[in-house]
Amino acid sequence: MDNTETMAKLALITGASRGIGKALAKGLHEDGWKVVLIARNEKKLKALAKNLNSKSSKKKAWIFAGDVSDRDFVKASAKDILANIGTPNLLINGAAINHHGTLTVTHEQFEEQMAVNVAGAFNFLKAFVPAMKKQGSGYIINISSIAGKVGFAGSGSYVTTKFALNGLSESLFHELVPEGIKVTSICPSWVDTDMAAYSGIPGDEMIHVKDILKTVRYLLDLGPNAVPKEVVISCVPFV
Ligand SMILES: NC(=O)c1ccc[n+]([C@@H]2O[C@H](COP(=O)([O-])OP(=O)(O)OC[C@H]3O[C@@H](n4cnc5c(N)ncnc54)[C@H](OP(=O)(O)O)[C@@H]3O)[C@@H](O)[C@H]2O)c1
Repeated sequence: MDNTETMAKLALITGASRGIGKALAKGLHEDGWKVVLIARNEKKLKALAKNLNSKSSKKKAWIFAGDVSDRDFVKASAKDILANIGTPNLLINGAAINHHGTLTVTHEQFEEQMAVNVAGAFNFLKAFVPAMKKQGSGYIINISSIAGKVGFAGSGSYVTTKFALNGLSESLFHELVPEGIKVTSICPSWVDTDMAAYSGIPGDEMIHVKDILKTVRYLLDLGPNAVPKEVVISCVPFV
């Protein structure tokens, strides 16, 4: 039996169908991780999982297509994952949307953004942290934003969700690190993905998704006594 494949650790990544989440899924899989991929677009998830599974003799990628803000979807997926795949060693909350505007967004857009960006992460944390606690180890990485550290004119509704996510992440950092579960919030500036396309900034002036993968690899490589609460990544042309 291939020992590396049986012993592989399990990462669950939300927002895995494209952008940062997809890059993290591919990179972690390359590093030998088993990956559970979550997003709404089933077609994209299937294509990614098919590609990843074609690279190893044993199945190492699973998909659960649905909305992270849908509590029933998260509960049912978590039950299936915990019973049939395992307890994640790494949970990456990456799924998010960005409605541009502060008071110009509609109430519905504001609520949807809070539901996906904040409650979506809460749903996964609530579903998996008890099992991670039982396991006595794990790593939670919340993909926040520099918009979770400082406000920006014209982006207030998105900024609100990322400040909230950082509040949740920092509180869990204090609660869970003493229990053996590391928690880090990654707060990047512009990253070259679909989400940033509206800015009109050329992709080659933005942070690359590979830089976020390198950041995750750096976090995972740290020794047991080292845990950054957050990693803030600025984008050089905009400093
Ligand atoms: N790009 C940037 O400049 C930037 C900067 C700082 C932080 N971030 C953060 O980085 C993370 C990843 O963003 P990205 O740049 O990779 O954006 P992206 O390319 O737009 O990808 C967003 C991901 O989230 C998923 N998603 C969105 N709504 C969802 C929902 N309701 N349920 C399940 N999945 C959902 C999308 O998949 P489906 O559409 O298939 O559901 C997609 O996989 C986000 O948290 C974002 O806020 C981005």
